[in-house]
Amino acid sequence: MPLVNTVEMFKKAYAGGYAVGAFNVNNMEIVQGITEACQELKAPVILQVSAGARKYANHTYLTKLVEAAVIENPDIPIALHLDHGSSYELCKDCIDGGFTSVMYDGSSKPYEENVEEARKVAEYAHKYNVTVEAELGKLAGVEDDVKVEDDKAQFTDPDEVQDFVKRTGVDSLAIAIGTSHGAYKFKPGQNPKLRLDILQEVAVRLPGFPIVLHGASSVIPEFVQQINQYGGQMPDAIGIPEEMLREAAKMAVCKINVDSDLRLAMTASIRKYFAENPSHFDPRQYLAPARTAIKDMVAHKITTVLGCAGKA
Ligand code: G3H
Ligand code: 13P
Ligand code: ZN
Repeated sequence: MPLVNTVEMFKKAYAGGYAVGAFNVNNMEIVQGITEACQELKAPVILQVSAGARKYANHTYLTKLVEAAVIENPDIPIALHLDHGSSYELCKDCIDGGFTSVMYDGSSKPYEENVEEARKVAEYAHKYNVTVEAELGKLAGVEDDVKVEDDKAQFTDPDEVQDFVKRTGVDSLAIAIGTSHGAYKFKPGQNPKLRLDILQEVAVRLPGFPIVLHGASSVIPEFVQQINQYGGQMPDAIGIPEEMLREAAKMAVCKINVDSDLRLAMTASIRKYFAENPSHFDPRQYLAPARTAIKDMVAHKITTVLGCAGKA
């Protein structure tokens, strides 16, 4: 089937009490690993591209890789989504360039500016049947060039969500309930916590409306351990416990964003490979197991965290 937007995916996910995985893609092996797992498990999927990914791999290469994945995996719905679009122009560029979904991220801007830009993006996107995600609240962590310190992070205010969605016309909303970007989400000894009460409050204000979780990697401890064992230095990398994400997916969360776990899977595999095969130098030799590591990790997420196996 051709690339899809997220309307049907989210409608089914909301009703079915599961979430669709939104995975960041930067190269061929990542696209292949993710989509092979989804095809085997008959899971819908969102492949998302950040501004940094576009800078690294180029818009055309990435869209063509995703088009190839659509051809090779004909049984599953695949959406191509812009992750953290920082401006109307960037969103427009991706809409014009074949994306089926975009995020306008005005979460660091004053409320009224966020409303106005998100409204403009939604107005343009909807002419082309492209869906729009926006964000309210501020996540801690690093996205591209933006670093939000822990003390500047802000939970989403449930009192704002109805007004925001009504005035912007966006199709889904990312909220801040304690997740954060990157591999260091909690301090050692700190109790990982998500404000599911805020999520519930948002769901009451926006019945049936799809909610998105960014910064939702679990920072899978086996990968961190393997990276450290084979020469890496990632002490104290900690993510969101899987059971909390599963809980959120049963509620209004229809899209769960994962990038760090892909990076960790790939890096852990390559570090181990190099340590065990110091004389090898053919990239295919270490990228093939890295791709398999991604595939296995995504399959695990689909069955254990997202609950979207068989929902294609
Ligand atoms: O939310 C941020 C994603 O992990 C994308 O990261 O901007 O380094 O590609 P990136
Ligand atoms: P992680 O860093 O937790 O994987 O979050 C990725 C993300 O939110 C992409 O938008
Ligand atoms: Zn994000």
